[in-house]
Amino acid sequence: MNSQATAGARTARGAKAAANSPLQAGPILQWQAREIQPFGTIAPLPLGLDESVCRASAEALNQLVADTMTLRDMYKKHHWQVVGPTFYQLHLLFDKHYQEQAALVDELAERVQMLGAVSLAMAHDVAETTRIPRPPRGREDVPTQIGRLLQAHEMILEFARQSAHEAAERGDDGTNDLLASDVIRTNEQQVWFLAEHLVAQPLLPALPGHA
Ligand SMILES: [Fe+2]
Repeated sequence: MNSQATAGARTARGAKAAANSPLQAGPILQWQAREIQPFGTIAPLPLGLDESVCRASAEALNQLVADTMTLRDMYKKHHWQVVGPTFYQLHLLFDKHYQEQAALVDELAERVQMLGAVSLAMAHDVAETTRIPRPPRGREDVPTQIGRLLQAHEMILEFARQSAHEAAERGDDGTNDLLASDVIRTNEQQVWFLAEHLVAQPLLPALPGHA
């Protein structure tokens, strides 16, 4: 029996059981897999924005959902796998940035839904959509970890700035504000905190008579 037939049999059994049951409080467990809104479509809400505006903003926002989820997960990977004398400091910093990126993912995805569109959500779809290069499964040294993160931040910042300008030109001030106030400013601050770790400064000053 194929999966559709199995689901159909389950549905028929569930409906029959529900009809024969004297209980009204039991959960209705029969279900059929069906989409109520395909990805890429708009279910219009009374926002005062044209559907074309919502569609264009949602497309840009979904790209940022995919890239931000990828950066978020890269932070957790580095949080777990970091090595060296700065382990504790970077272990904590990477996790702080992870939390902040996770909050951005939620804001971006909810903005997509707010515009009447459908947000990307699952790892398979994110992997197919993100533009951020895939890191290896193995561990990397600290400069490489930070270099990867900075590259991802820069890709997101360039795209978010362009998208913010375009949203403002379309009259979508809400998307513009989210991108400028939250996405861009959070990513800029994280770049600062990361990049300062790549400045070659000794931990102690050189003393006369010491090589
Ligand atoms: Fe942890």
